[in-house]
Amino acid sequence: MAALVPDMTESVDPWWSADIFLSMSAPEIRSATEADLPAITEIYAHAVRYGTATFELIPPDLAEMTRRFRALMDGGFPYFAASVEGDVIGYAYAGPYRPRPAYRFTVENSVYLKPSTHRRGIGLQLMQRLLAECEARGYRQMIAVIGDSANAGSIGVHTKCGFQMVGTHRHVGLKFGRWLDTVMMQRALGEGGSTVPKD
Ligand SMILES: CC(C)(COP(=O)(O)OP(=O)(O)OC[C@H]1O[C@@H](n2cnc3c(N)ncnc32)[C@H](O)[C@@H]1OP(=O)(O)O)[C@@H](O)C(=O)NCCC(=O)NCCS
Repeated sequence: MAALVPDMTESVDPWWSADIFLSMSAPEIRSATEADLPAITEIYAHAVRYGTATFELIPPDLAEMTRRFRALMDGGFPYFAASVEGDVIGYAYAGPYRPRPAYRFTVENSVYLKPSTHRRGIGLQLMQRLLAECEARGYRQMIAVIGDSANAGSIGVHTKCGFQMVGTHRHVGLKFGRWLDTVMMQRALGEGGSTVPKD
């Protein structure tokens, strides 16, 4: 497991340096395409290697991210990219919450940004677009399974988007040599549970 501890002696890749985006223009939020996947793979790989939001331990490669993207597209789920001057700096998508068919109106979301772009409202914009699209597609509930109860950024952005705290699963993950919680949050979409949709 030692190899999973981030090596802080690594030189910092300028791609992640905080000042690159100080003067960046407003991001464009648009549907993601396969052309965005190399950048998305890199963003997610950084979160896997250094973060606790995801419980994956080994970054999936481009082929695996492409397989996942195609599975979401084939399932009719929305996937958005945030780009600035042509560079993809973040993404958000919704996918099935659980595979059994009674869950078909419930989605689970995912949102990741380049670290250098945090706290500029981009996560919020991605989530608002994702929520609107999921409502338009007829989904009724969105679930966020947030890795690490110390993940203030994710809990904060979901709270700002109207998610409510459901509860915490304690000590269900082991990463970087320590136990991690998952925080469950939920938001109704559209008419939520107040009406029964036609299939
Ligand atoms: C979670 C994440 C997507 C949030 O995106 P972001 O662009 O940094 O967040 P925003 O700037 O849009 O913040 C929107 C609101 O969320 C809350 N928020 C965001 N970051 C916060 C933090 N670190 N602490 C507390 N609240 C926070 C605030 O209410 C904020 O509004 P404000 O800036 O007006 O106060 C981003 O931090 C990220 O990629 N984190 C690493 C991966 C991750 O945790 N993904 C979620 C997996 S479930």
